[in-house]
Amino acid sequence: MNIPSREGSKFFPNFKCSKQLIAFALTLVLSLPFAVSAQDAAADAGGADVAHGETVFKNNCAQCHAITDERVVGPGLKGATSRNDMAWLTKWVKNSQAMIASGDPYAVKIYNEYSKAQMTSFPGLSEEDIKAIFAYVDNAATAAPAEAAAGAGAAAGAPAASSGPSDLFMIVLVALVVVMLLVLGVLLVIVTILSKAVAGGEASEGDTDFMTRLGNSLKGIVADPAIRSAVIWVFALLALKATVDGAFGVGVQQGYAPKQPIAFSHKLHAGEYKIDCNYCHTGVNRGRSAHIPSANICMNCHGVIKKESPEIQKIYTSIENDQPIEWVRVHTLPDFAYFNHSQHVNVGGVECETCHGEIGSMEVIQQRSSLTMGWCIDCHRTTEVNTKDNKYYDNLVQLHASESQEALKVEDIGGLECSKCHY
Ligand code: HEC
Ligand code: HEC
Ligand code: HEC
Ligand code: HEC
Ligand code: HEC
Ligand code: HEC
Repeated sequence: MNIPSREGSKFFPNFKCSKQLIAFALTLVLSLPFAVSAQDAAADAGGADVAHGETVFKNNCAQCHAITDERVVGPGLKGATSRNDMAWLTKWVKNSQAMIASGDPYAVKIYNEYSKAQMTSFPGLSEEDIKAIFAYVDNAATAAPAEAAAGAGAAAGAPAASSGPSDLFMIVLVALVVVMLLVLGVLLVIVTILSKAVAGGEASEGDTDFMTRLGNSLKGIVADPAIRSAVIWVFALLALKATVDGAFGVGVQQGYAPKQPIAFSHKLHAGEYKIDCNYCHTGVNRGRSAHIPSANICMNCHGVIKKESPEIQKIYTSIENDQPIEWVRVHTLPDFAYFNHSQHVNVGGVECETCHGEIGSMEVIQQRSSLTMGWCIDCHRTTEVNTKDNKYYDNLVQLHASESQEALKVEDIGGLECSKCHY
């Protein structure tokens, strides 16, 4: 049956218009996933606030507070807005010490409850920032209790695929819209046929009963080139997006920042107190591994500093029970790749920050580089070898200079040879 014939459109005068409608709606679906993925999945009413609040919270508060009622350094913030009003909360966040000093009863009570642990003051946060933080806290408590629990972090665990929930959300959304469109299409066809039937006349001519006409109309929709191409585009783009996301994501954990069992802050220790990386990561100049410090190294200072803090108490518990602190590993290369810290730090003179980012400003360590083979190779192609005061390289430098105008790069000393990194 070659449907949208002239007779067809005479039979169904509205039909053309409804086809366009469907094509338009399909095009909408096409743009939907991209629009959605650009936004936060949780962005509903006040979503922008919530998203902003999440960022502010993670940057300033997450090391001491959970958004559940779980205690970290400070109390869990779930329900904080029902315990105190916004004016109180704003004053507290900006300068909690001043409030305690002024004798505010709740402030004094909670300060004592938390053994006089001092909360950082945030005079720099605006009222909007603080409002957004609590919008985020409240939203997390009501909207997604499961996610909130994950955010509060049962310590270790596998790295969560960061895009997990929003991907699922997108798929469900798209599936829903597709189903709705199909239903809409069928309804439109039925309406057209019925209205024609009511108008009477030619509609009842010939042997076309209701079912065949319904079938014909559906075929018409399927055969329509505009609708066909819209459908094909939707699926092609969705497939493309999934493939690209998947391919780039395999084994790459850039941005991975798991919650650690103790709220140890590099920002505080390496940033503010300027403790040398080497003091704790004793392997960086000597060997392959940088090493994670044992609890004894912490005790050099925390034998006296802040002994009463619940976080420091965890160090004591670890030593008393002879149980090492179970830090969650952040950076890992697969076993078949060889990387040596001393070669890079000591011999090569590469700064920690070049590979690890601004550690001195991180409350929680985050993997900043991709750690892929391409990342290693790119740097070896572009970085000059540190040959200064290194007799080992003298002959090599001379030899290289006689052959090339360019500076000696890591690639020239074998930095691209497979066997240097794989064995
Ligand atoms: C260095 C750790 C630390 C940081 C960072 C921190 N807090 Fe606190 N917070 C505490 C402690 C500890 C208490 C308990 C009171 C005390 O000892 O001063 C507390 C108490 C609170 C309370 C009162 C608790 C309640 O609900 O009854 C609120 C609200 C609060 N903090 C909000 C925040 C917000 C918002 C941020 C981020 C802008 C933040 N805190 C950052 C440690 C911290
Ligand atoms: C007071 C001790 C101490 C100092 C000083 C210190 N670190 Fe750390 N570092 C730790 C501890 C403990 C961990 C494990 C917990 C964590 O990841 O936060 C760690 C973890 C790390 C990790 C992630 C390890 C992994 O699991 O992949 C990197 C990278 C790192 N530190 C780099 C640095 C750099 C760079 C400096 C100097 C700017 C530095 N650290 C200074 C104690 C320290
Ligand atoms: C060289 C000294 C030094 C070493 C080593 C050190 N710290 Fe600290 N740490 C400090 C100082 C100083 C403070 C800030 C104390 C304050 O705020 O009054 C601090 C604060 C902390 C806090 C925040 C406590 C609170 O409640 O405010 C934690 C948690 C902590 N350190 C954990 C560790 C861990 C874990 C290690 C071992 C990996 C470690 N520290 C090693 C000096 C050190
Ligand atoms: C050339 C890049 C590069 C530089 C420079 C670098 N790192 Fe690393 N770091 C890595 C890689 C890659 C890993 C993962 C190693 C693995 O899994 O075998 C790593 C892992 C770590 C770890 C986890 C424990 C371990 O040894 O596997 C710590 C801690 C660390 N680095 C600290 C440092 C510190 C401190 C410095 C500066 C003194 C530094 N790194 C300089 C690339 C670098
Ligand atoms: C930021 C730049 C940088 C990155 C990133 C980097 N390297 Fe290097 N790498 C160097 C430099 C500089 C040297 C030369 C050190 C020297 O003088 O011996 C070097 C040397 C090496 C060598 C010794 C080469 C030889 O012939 O002696 C190996 C092996 C190596 N790197 C492995 C890796 C691996 C594996 C990675 C990725 C996980 C990596 N590197 C990432 C800068 C980098
Ligand atoms: C500078 C160090 C370095 C050199 C040189 C190097 N690789 Fe790699 N290679 C790596 C690292 C690091 C990984 C792990 C990457 C990851 O986990 O994503 C890797 C991964 C791989 C993989 C696994 C697939 C993948 O991409 O994860 C293969 C296969 C491989 N390398 C082959 C080679 C061959 C063949 C050569 C020589 C032409 C070579 N590599 C040279 C560092 C190197």
